[in-house]
Parts: sequence; C-alpha cells; structure tokens
Amino acid sequence: MGKIRVGVIGVGNCFAGLAQGIEIYKRKEIQKLGLMHEKIGGYSTDDLEFVSAFDVGENKVGKPLNEAIFQDPNYVNWVDSASNCTSRTVKESPILDGVGVYVASMINPIKQTKTEKELEKEAIEEIETTRTRVLINYLPVGSQKAVEFWANIALKTGCAFINCMPVFIASTEGWLKKFKNAGLPIVGDDVKGVIGATITHRTLAKLCVDRGAVIDRTYQINVGGNTDFANMLERERLESKKISKTEAVQSLIPANQRLDDKDIYIGPSDFIPFLGNTKLAFIRIEGRMFANVPFNMEIRLDVDDKANSAGVAIDAIRCAQLALDKGVSGNLTFASAYLMKHPFIQMGDEEAREKLDNWISELEQ
Ligand SMILES: NC(=O)c1ccc[n+]([C@@H]2O[C@H](COP(=O)([O-])OP(=O)(O)OC[C@H]3O[C@@H](n4cnc5c(N)ncnc54)[C@H](O)[C@@H]3O)[C@@H](O)[C@H]2O)c1
Repeated sequence: MGKIRVGVIGVGNCFAGLAQGIEIYKRKEIQKLGLMHEKIGGYSTDDLEFVSAFDVGENKVGKPLNEAIFQDPNYVNWVDSASNCTSRTVKESPILDGVGVYVASMINPIKQTKTEKELEKEAIEEIETTRTRVLINYLPVGSQKAVEFWANIALKTGCAFINCMPVFIASTEGWLKKFKNAGLPIVGDDVKGVIGATITHRTLAKLCVDRGAVIDRTYQINVGGNTDFANMLERERLESKKISKTEAVQSLIPANQRLDDKDIYIGPSDFIPFLGNTKLAFIRIEGRMFANVPFNMEIRLDVDDKANSAGVAIDAIRCAQLALDKGVSGNLTFASAYLMKHPFIQMGDEEAREKLDNWISELEQ
C-alpha cells in the first residue's frame, strides 16, 4: 500500500491546519485523540503526502509548499514545520473570481500575465509530474469560476476531487455524472467541522425533533477573524454558503414543520480581526414542547475553525483514496453525507456515520 498523493488548491488557513495537524500526529505528541477514524482503507494520518499545490498569493506562489503554509495571512502556528509537505514550489493558479474585494490587500495576488489556457497546461503538467491522485479544494467562498476550473482539471488528470467549500459541485447532478463517467470519486460540498457550528446546530435541532418538540425560530451567527470571514463580508459571494449552512439544519426538520425563511437565519455575520482563526458561533433555538409550552436555548461555541475543518478533511481524503484503490467512482454518498454540509443526499448524522463505516468496512474486505 502506497502513500496518498494529494494536491492542494488554495494554500490557506484550512490547509495549514491540515498539514500541521498531521505533523503533530506524526511526532506522536498525541495518539488517536481527536480523530474520527484512526485508519481508513488501511491509511493512517502518516500516509498523506502533499505533493503539489496551487495558489495566487504573491508570497506563496514560487515558495516551497513547506514554507508557503507559514506565510501571511495564514495564522496556523501549531508546529514549526510540516514534513508531509513537499519542497516543490507552489504553482500559479488562475485568479478568475478567487480574490474578493475585502481580502485582496491581505492576499496580495500576483500580477497575472499567463493566460488561463497556459496555466491549465502547467497545472496538468505539475499534477502528472508529481503523480497527484487526490485534489483538495480550499478556494475562498464565491470562487465559482475558479472552482469549476479546478474540477475540470481533476477530470482531465484522473484525480479524485474533494470540495471543502460551498461552490456546488459534488451536490450537482451534472458534475457528479462527469466524475462517474470519468471513473473518479468525488466528495463534497463544504466541509463540516469536527465540533463545528453546523454539527452542533444539527444535533440540537435533531434533539428537539426526536423529543416531539416543534422548532419555531432559530439562528446561528458566526464571527471570526481570518481571510475566510473577511471574504464573507462581501454579501454577493455568500449566497451558496448561506444555502449550504441553512439547508444543513432545515434538512433535519420534518417537511411539514420546515421553517419559513423569516424564521431561520444562519450565516457568517461579521469579521473581528483579533479573533484570528477562532470562530465564535451563537446558536438559539425557540420552540414548543409538551402541552404547547414554550422553551428556548442558547449555545456559545468557541473553537479553532481550522482544527475543525482539518479533522474532517483528513477522513474525506482517505475515503477518496480508498475509492480510487477499489475502483469506486462518482459521488461517495455516505462520505459526503457525513463529512460535508451540502451533500447531494442529506442524511441524519447518526445514519450517515453508520452507513459510512459500513461502506468503509465493505471496501476494506
Ligand atoms: N472550518 C472551516 O474553516 C471551513 C469549513 C467549511 C468550509 N470552509 C471553506 O474552506 C475554504 C478555505 O478556507 P481557508 O480558511 O483556508 O481560507 P483562506 O482564505 O485562508 O485560504 C484561501 C486560499 O486560497 C487562495 N486563493 C484565492 N484565489 C485563488 C485562486 N483563484 N486559485 C488558487 N488559490 C486561490 C488564497 O491566496 C488563500 O491562500 C473557504 O471557502 C472556507 O469558507 C472552511
């Protein structure tokens, strides 16, 4: 069994958390603490190698990946090196719609002189040279064109594709067919957190539903201090993120009790620079229980959002490699349902976890 050869699109905070988190496991500072699966398909955290990378930040492009992950505006600083990252340099990606107005001065994108076609040719060469097999997408919210560019590169280079952000690819029938026809697995869209706002909100909503209560109103307000949150100040870029997060909760509420738009608000709400990668989520549920008697609850979650995404992405990558090993293609239904906020098929988290574990065991036979 070989290593998992991963290429990364967007060398930002989420990726820095994934690479540095894996390094912490490698140094045996902790054992399996914080992992949902110690092994998937025989692969442990040590088996991931980041062999190619693409970005547009002028201080990242042209730097070895193992240095680029420490460049501004990346704030993850858990260890001082990541041996799972190649010393090959980060290659230039087409900017397209990747850089929003509020983050341009933080990212400082390169002055782009090459055409999209030239960059496509270079990307394909890099992926082939490095024998990349799994591409993981961490582009900013609102990068529709850039994400489509990279989904097409995955198809052209025979890579599995993991879409960690809310441009709808793995939840769109047309794209799923393309991956199925190409014999390639896909997982997405929009990665959940280990103990994120979405999974916490879903769990509480399910508790209410399971106990026969009716939810009348609910909100989930998220604030943070990194480029992800700065980017989301641009409301036009936010549409699909709101759909993804809102539907993740609505999908657990029985169809006849589905909340009106005016009774549910879920979305990032502000950028507070000094929070860095700390995300604060404020969740409120108002409802009625036995004898129509009202109740409400409020939760405040305070969490490192990058540990949150990395602890889930690490399973998505290993599921994708297991599927490649076994010739499974198209939507990885149960991996997407358990690990992503906006899968093609939504399921309750308990059901999705059980089905995912059965799917893994069957393929491991
Ligand atoms: N818990 C979480 O953090 C979480 C959960 C779900 C989804 N996400 C999503 O994951 C994505 C990544 O989050 P992040 O915190 O790493 O963001 P980030 O802003 O730190 O990183 C984005 C990276 O993409 C690069 N980039 C911008 N345009 C590009 C282009 N055209 N081509 C290649 N690279 C480009 C930027 O230079 C930057 O390095 C975001 O869309 C975020 O919403 C994060």
